[in-house]
Formats: sequence, structure tokens, C-alpha cells
Amino acid sequence: MNASQYLESNKQRFLDELIELLRIPSVSADSRHNEDTKRCAEAVKKALLDAGCQKAEVCPTKGHPCVLGELIIDPNLPTVLTYGHYDVQPPDPLDLWTSPPFEPVVKDGKIYARGACDDKGQVFMHIKALESMVKTNSLPCNLKFIIEGEEEVGSANLEAFLKSNKKRLEADIVLVSDTSMISMETPSIESGLRGLTYMEVEVTGPNRDLHSGVFGGAVPNPITVLAEMIASLHDKKNKVKVKGFYKDVVELTPEERVALNKAPFDLEAYKKDLDISDIWGEEGYTTLERTGVRPTLELNGIWGGYTGEGAKTVLPSKATAKISMRLVPNQKSKKIAKLFEKHLMKIAPPYVKVKVTEHHGGEPVVTPTNSEAYLAAAKAIETTFGKKPIPTRGGGSIPIIALFERVLGIKSVLMGFGLDSDNIHSPNEHYGLFNYYKGIETIPHFLKNYTELKQKSK
Ligand code: BES
Ligand code: MN
Ligand code: MN
Repeated sequence: MNASQYLESNKQRFLDELIELLRIPSVSADSRHNEDTKRCAEAVKKALLDAGCQKAEVCPTKGHPCVLGELIIDPNLPTVLTYGHYDVQPPDPLDLWTSPPFEPVVKDGKIYARGACDDKGQVFMHIKALESMVKTNSLPCNLKFIIEGEEEVGSANLEAFLKSNKKRLEADIVLVSDTSMISMETPSIESGLRGLTYMEVEVTGPNRDLHSGVFGGAVPNPITVLAEMIASLHDKKNKVKVKGFYKDVVELTPEERVALNKAPFDLEAYKKDLDISDIWGEEGYTTLERTGVRPTLELNGIWGGYTGEGAKTVLPSKATAKISMRLVPNQKSKKIAKLFEKHLMKIAPPYVKVKVTEHHGGEPVVTPTNSEAYLAAAKAIETTFGKKPIPTRGGGSIPIIALFERVLGIKSVLMGFGLDSDNIHSPNEHYGLFNYYKGIETIPHFLKNYTELKQKSK
């Protein structure tokens, strides 16, 4: 029996086991779930051991624990380090879910649950692929695992963890399934991720909430001021007006732009899916460019004053906004944070106080499409999908990927099996069973191809 035959005869159990993992509400952002998050780390460790790892450990960090595992069959063979995360985004707004986020339901060939695609479902593909290879004696190389619990909150403690575990994490390549494909008919591999700078801006007007009739019209309203400041952050061409924002951006060559825009994109279907009558974005760039290779600035949240039921006449003391910027090569997260702060301080009118704080960040990455790892992934996907994958640029961010290279000196390959329509971070997140099983089937091919290419180049 080979690995894919083993998969075929264990499909239902592979699904049932994933469902159990999805029941654990490992929401990293919410400290009320700290015990669940720990329990989830233990479950991942157990799954790694059950699948055939020689060692697995739940390692404490300053934040949520990180799970390591390994199976070394021969020190002379290449070692692949699989990265993923077991933490998930908060599930709210809960009332928009058609079934509870932590009570997984299989419907129309998809599994619905928070984390189904991002990233428990994709992590579990690697664990079940491992089991399939171990049970059929077909593991071609050494495997290590690092499954973290803080990706969705910026992986703030992972850099220190990498630094103190360099030796244990030594590997030839990092394999990541935490990105998406264009579609199951058009397989693709992301050859880059955007970086991120996440900021918070607090505007304070009067020292306390006031009666909006007694004081309104005579005192600066922080919500109005914040709204004006925010509205000025894009110009008429929808370019970001933060001074110096584009300075380090590497423009694509005309050839690269043509290649990028060859990916299928149906504008009408896109608009229809999102129920918008028109798209929006930086003038002079296509949607694929705007979401892949151009930097952006987005409002993530804005609040202040009274937001409860009914009406309360109040002139609030404070207004706050959360703002993220997606970065592309060669923008640097810290530098952009400084430019942003400087810009906001400059545009703030003198009659309010403005406080700008930085949350997490991460650097953009580009993964070459001619590397052994990329070629191995492309060939694996071609084998299991029957079609050559096309390279695309992902709009999302995985901050740790740049650190794998900087701290450990290891490059990554982004072999993700999600879809942009999987509602990650949204209500009704789901993952196609087809995608799940295809992933489990494809991973052993990747490992085999990669090992062969590595051995040849020795
Ligand atoms: N898996 C996503 C990133 C992603 C999604 C990349 C789809 C490519 C395609 C990851 O879990 C994520 O959500 N990252 C965050 C950044 C983090 C610092 C909160 C993001 O991109 O917002
Ligand atoms: Mn993810
Ligand atoms: Mn995510």
C-alpha cells in the first residue's frame, strides 16, 4: 500500500480527527481562552506522536506555547521543517454563523468551523500525510514540525523562541500550508506574502464625555477630528498619503506585471460575490496587483462615544481607530510605523491630543519560483491536480516567514490549499474536504520530489 491508498482507506477517520481538533476554541487573542489554547497545543502534540513522530513537545514561550515535533530517519537525508499555527481568530460576530464556530459541521462537501482552513485544517493535512507515509514506510526524508499558537496575534514571542532553539530547528527548507490557491481547477502557489504594520490611533478632545447640547459646537469632537484625519490618508487616486510610504517600494517590471495578470480573474464574479457595485483601489493597478504586490492602508476598526442601543446625546472625550498597512518589498515594518506616527502627529489639529501606538508587524517575503522547493511543490501539485500550478502573490501576511530566513537562515515554500472564498477570519469559515484530502495526497509527493532534487544537487 502507498500513502495515497492509505489515505483512501482512512478518509473518514482523518476527517473525524480534524473535527475533534476544531472543537477546541484556541483563540489566541482572547485570554479567556488561554486554557483552551494550551489544551489545543497538547492535542497537536498528541496527534504528532500518534502519527509517528519520535519526539514531540509543548514548549512554553512568553505567550502561548509552541509545539515541536520530529522524525529523523537518516541524518544524511534532507530535513523539511513544517510550519503552521493551531491558534485561530476570534469567531465573532457569532450571530452571523449558520452553525456554532466550534461545533464543526460537514455540509456540501465542506467542513464549517473557525480554523477549518486557517490553519488547523491545513496543519492537520501535514500530520495525516505523515501518518500515511509512516504507516506505508514511504517517508523519504526527515521531518520536523513547528506549530505555533500566536500567529493570529503577530507571533510576537516566536523570534526569541527561534533564537533559543536554532539547533533543534535546523532544516533545509520550511514547508508552509497557510495560504490559498486560485481555485481547485486552477492550482497555484503563492510566491510571496505582504508585510504588515498595525497601528492604533487615539484622539482625545475634552477631558470627559460631555452633554452634546450643552457643549456641542463649541468644543472639538474627537470623532470628527479622527474621521477627518483618516479621510485624508488616501488621495484622489487612492494612493496612501503617509509621507514617504512608497519610497522603498520595488516596482514590478512590465514583464512581471504581465505574468502576474495572467492569473484568471473574473471581475463580475468578484463584485457579485462581495455584493459591491464597483471595486476600489490605487489608480493604475489591477485588482490582482492591488491585493498582491501593492502596499495598502486599511481601517480595521473605529469607535468612540455611544454605540449602544438607542440614542445617547454625548460629545465623547475619545475616539480610536485601528489601522493596518500591508507592505511589499523593500518596505520595512518599523520604518513604516515611524512614518505613520510622524504623519499623524503632523496632520493632527492643535486642539486635540493624539496618541499613536504600534501593534504587531512583519516583513514581506518573496519566495523564488526557480528554487528546488518551489519546483518540488509545483511538480507535486501537477501530479495530484493534473495541472501545472501558476505562481501568484498572496495579499496576506505570515510574519514569521521572514524570520525563518533571518534568524535560522532557512527559506520557505508556501504550498497552501485554501481558497479566498473560505471565509477565513469571517463568519462561516470553511474548508473543502476536497482541498483537505488533496493536501494530504500532495504533501508526500512534495517531500519525495524535494528529496530527489536535493540528492541530485549534492
Ligand atoms: N493564513 C493567514 C495569512 C494568509 C491568508 C496568507 C491567505 C495568504 C493568504 C494568516 O493566518 C493571517 O491571517 N495572518 C494575518 C497576520 C497576523 C500578524 C495577524 C494577516 O494576514 O492579517
Ligand atoms: Mn493562517
Ligand atoms: Mn489568519
